[in-house]
Amino acid sequence: NPTPDEVRALIDAELHREGPLLPILHAIQHAFDHVPEMALPLIAEALNLTRAEVHGVMSFYHDFRKAPAGRHVVKICRAEACQSMGANALSQAVLDKLGLDWGGTTPDGSVTVEPVYCLGLCACAPAAMVDGKLIGRADAARLAAELEGAA
Ligand code: FES
Repeated sequence: NPTPDEVRALIDAELHREGPLLPILHAIQHAFDHVPEMALPLIAEALNLTRAEVHGVMSFYHDFRKAPAGRHVVKICRAEACQSMGANALSQAVLDKLGLDWGGTTPDGSVTVEPVYCLGLCACAPAAMVDGKLIGRADAARLAAELEGAA
């Protein structure tokens, strides 16, 4: 787990920027694969914000994790073009099969499922990504096969 000093060093490195909050959150997530709860008061203090404000920004952007991801990360596009091509049903099938909610990780730590808002693959909707690999015309079986291949 990150120490307060490690987090503070990352905050300090971005403080000179205009609009440092997002760069700070990105730097922390990059370093620890998530933004731990303990970082929020440190960020709030450094930027003279409330904890709720930091939390609000963090949840507005879907990029930031509250806990480290599993070994494999499935991202399913929830933006409009994909929704119109069945992304909701696809998401539900994948989440149900793994017994997860959005952002959840299987108890064995193998898979995390996260939403994403347009992967630039709208022409091949619904789109998804498994460990950074883009998958067009995704269906649950294809995603399961990718995960098995990656296991
Ligand atoms: Fe899903 Fe663009 S809307 S990839």
